[in-house]
Amino acid sequence: MTRKIVVTSALPYANGPIHIGHLVEYIQTDIWVRFHKLCGHECLYFCADDTHGTPVMLSARAAGIPPEQLIEKVHREHVQDFERFHVAFDNYYSTHSPENQHFSELIFKRLDEAGSIVKRQVEQAFCETCNMALPDRYVKGTCPRCKAEDQYGDSCEVCSATYRPTDMVNPTCATCRAVPVLRSSEHYFFKLADYEERLKVLIGQGYTQPSVANKLQEWFDAGLKDWDISRDGPYFGFKIPGESDKYFYVWLDAPIGYIASAKNYCDREGLDFNRLWPGEHASPSDSDEYELYHFIGKDIVYFHALFWPAMLQGAGFKTAKKLFVHGFLTVNGEKMSKSRGTFVTAATFAEHLDTEYLRYYYASKLNDSVHDLDLSIEDFVNKVNSDLVGKFANLASRSGPMLTKKLEGRLGELDADGRALIDRMVAERSQIVQAYEALKYGAVVRHIVALADEANRYVESKRPWDTLKTDPELTRVTLTAVINAVRVLAVYLKPILPVYARKVERFLGLSELTMADLDSVLENHSINPFEHLFKRVEAKQVKKMIESSKEPETSGSSGDSSNDTPSFKEQCDMSDFGKIDLRVAAIKEADTVEGADKLLRLTLDVGRVDRNVLAGIALAYKPEDLVGRKVVYFSNLKPRKMRFGVSEGMVLAAGGGGKEVYLLEPDDGAQPGDEIR
Ligand code: MSP
Ligand code: ZN
Repeated sequence: MTRKIVVTSALPYANGPIHIGHLVEYIQTDIWVRFHKLCGHECLYFCADDTHGTPVMLSARAAGIPPEQLIEKVHREHVQDFERFHVAFDNYYSTHSPENQHFSELIFKRLDEAGSIVKRQVEQAFCETCNMALPDRYVKGTCPRCKAEDQYGDSCEVCSATYRPTDMVNPTCATCRAVPVLRSSEHYFFKLADYEERLKVLIGQGYTQPSVANKLQEWFDAGLKDWDISRDGPYFGFKIPGESDKYFYVWLDAPIGYIASAKNYCDREGLDFNRLWPGEHASPSDSDEYELYHFIGKDIVYFHALFWPAMLQGAGFKTAKKLFVHGFLTVNGEKMSKSRGTFVTAATFAEHLDTEYLRYYYASKLNDSVHDLDLSIEDFVNKVNSDLVGKFANLASRSGPMLTKKLEGRLGELDADGRALIDRMVAERSQIVQAYEALKYGAVVRHIVALADEANRYVESKRPWDTLKTDPELTRVTLTAVINAVRVLAVYLKPILPVYARKVERFLGLSELTMADLDSVLENHSINPFEHLFKRVEAKQVKKMIESSKEPETSGSSGDSSNDTPSFKEQCDMSDFGKIDLRVAAIKEADTVEGADKLLRLTLDVGRVDRNVLAGIALAYKPEDLVGRKVVYFSNLKPRKMRFGVSEGMVLAAGGGGKEVYLLEPDDGAQPGDEIR
């Protein structure tokens, strides 16, 4: 029976790059989706960027661009990152979309009609300088309990007290250090407690792993509280209908983004959305045609195991059959860290290493538990070299070239020994299928490696390189078995290593392999010249990647989370600022610099004088796109002598460096030489 399956991964925030921590989830999910496709099931994989909320709004403000422009750029980058890692969504959409606005409004309206929404006055910290209500993490101050300084507005890292920002001693705005004022404002709340019984039924049906269900029980025991789902403007999000300056909290519309992505796909592909995800018109009980699954990390369980299913139940939409929760990535046993260079972005990884290495490594470590998963660099190097190179690639490279070079590339027929080898390999199918289905990828990998070992032993015992001289036809029979073993392994590995599988398909002259191909063998068939499968990885390549990921620790923040509140430098006076001479400049010429692939040589028109600047922006901009642009120029910075010449001052840009550089640009009307104050 072909199953129909809809799968989602959590929507990454649109204010930072995809990193190897995120990839645990997207690779885990993608393998599951590819596995179902390989089995011939209809399986659709939806995701999107999570675009709304305070961090995105502030990042856009800092870059001086509208949030729409920021999220568009990040969307392009995310799409590219996922492609590099062969994470193949059927639709990768955005929560800033008309579909998402439609469903957010609809679900809100239905929850309101169901009596699940209440309004209440809340007191909140408001920064008059930043002109915004401050989320808890954007207030810093002294802990009301232990008096530790410089704590966030929700909890104290020293004594673990939790409190409201308004309870703090000496609260300040984390962005500008101004003292916030208290403002009272009316907010909308979702009455989560009304759903307790229905949620318990859902969880009782196996909605989550047992360890997650235990955690949920603790939350039930502590009592479910009303959830604040509105935010005052200015805010980047969807306006609440009927309100002039209130918005849906980002976490209200974010999971609805799953629905929006599915709807957008259905409309494009001519599928009936109401059958795929019943709720808008059909009632959920009308159809169980599609099984629905969400993959998430353990940090967002509360949202996906309580708020989200409650919202769906209240609004009459179908809930997922299962929520698969995974743990967090550690690198060499520690939290990812920018200063240690273990906060590796997807883009950086792909620049240095074959992305299938990471897919394979994660697969070998993943199972159905919520435990954290460790990327040990040494283990990573060993596994890649021993399994990918030493076992899978090796098996193909010791049979393929011999067959194409010496035996006209033609397979013969299997003898009894060969048949027995292939039968044993195919007999593992149901075990491997069950392990994939149960997310026990580590077990999948162990099974496959054991089979590869067996096939390699087969080659050793048959010694085709010896028999080739004495009995070419016997050798053909041996190699026929080996090639069939390669084919079986490629089928099993295809969800984990899609590129490797595609290369094997090409080299064996086969169309798309599927699980059903295990029902037959390949005989009297011609193969193509062998393609190289995997290169050895050297520890020094990994070291280089870590080196290039290193960033100095910024003060006051671990800098380890792309969603952390930004940390700022010490306050200064106008007199400090007065020392800095900033000018509008126009780029007259821009050239690459021989021997320095990150630098561009810029000739700036600074009003009657020209200046030369060496700017580290070559990964982000093409020289020809820069000529004619206006920039902000720091003119009285001491000239710096570099190997490539003298740099006089610098141009200002936002971003973390590398490809992430966003030049600051004055509005139209500013003239070269104008002073900036
Ligand atoms: N935007 C929210 C999710 C909204 S879903 C309606 C979010 N975004 S995120 O970018 O922070 O994380 C996206 C997913 O990646 C989450 O499931 C999160 O748990 C996972 N991971 C982020 N960092 C991770 C690690 N270091 N390790 C493993 N998974 C991690 O949360
Ligand atoms: Zn402020």
